[in-house]
Amino acid sequence: MEIVILPDAATAAELAADAVTALLDRTPDAVLGLATGSSPLPVYDALAARHDTGRISFARARAFTLDEYVGLDADHPERYANVIRRDFTSRVDFAPDAVSGPDGLATDIPAYCRDYEDAIAAAGGVDLQILGIGTDGHIAFNEPGSSLASRTRIKTLTRQTRIDNARFFDDDIDRVPAQCLTQGLGTILEARHIVLLATGQGKAEAVHQLAEGGVSALWPATVLQHHPHVSVLLDESAACRLQLADYYRQAWAAKPEWQGL
Ligand code: F6R
Repeated sequence: MEIVILPDAATAAELAADAVTALLDRTPDAVLGLATGSSPLPVYDALAARHDTGRISFARARAFTLDEYVGLDADHPERYANVIRRDFTSRVDFAPDAVSGPDGLATDIPAYCRDYEDAIAAAGGVDLQILGIGTDGHIAFNEPGSSLASRTRIKTLTRQTRIDNARFFDDDIDRVPAQCLTQGLGTILEARHIVLLATGQGKAEAVHQLAEGGVSALWPATVLQHHPHVSVLLDESAACRLQLADYYRQAWAAKPEWQGL
């Protein structure tokens, strides 16, 4: 796991955008994994800006999102399918139907989740997965207690996650759906490169556990310690509890720039 401590979210976003750009230069029909939430927004802004200048095209790429609330109406502004379209995919040149996400209105949820897994596999798997991390250590909506081998399924959100996300629902926790569909930890681990972004002190404990804690279902993101290619991009606040921060800085400073993430 490579930990990169950066001055601010914008610098982290440019680095993540560099990784996406390099991937699409090499593999124009790459498969991207997209997260919603606040953490990746500067990355999406950076990618949209590069698209506007003609530096990058998503015309042959495909994308899969991580998760979706169960039960929100198709036109609800906080439905993740609508959020990712608004925040990113409608701002660039993905082909129609190139972006897929779990359907929180599916009727046969187990069958639907199997089909979603099959669709990711049929696309050749995810080449680069963008992730955020919850204050409780979740990735996608794999809440504490999730099986480290889990696949796409329905999950109940923790009270902490509903409190954290109430800001998108007029600060009313009762309006945050109680359940979601989410890719599993086993699903996420199959992505070839994972780029996780975390900013702000609220993420500091989760980031410390992710990088330096024991692998445990109590902090689901710790499963990423088993993945061979994870880049963790942090600002100073999110990095403030890292025991080995000096070493991570030293290793990043010593890395030749051409290597990228
Ligand atoms: C969203 C997702 C979640 C968020 C996490 C952090 O698709 O998968 O795991 O990444 O809750 O959210 P933010 O970035 O809003 O702090």
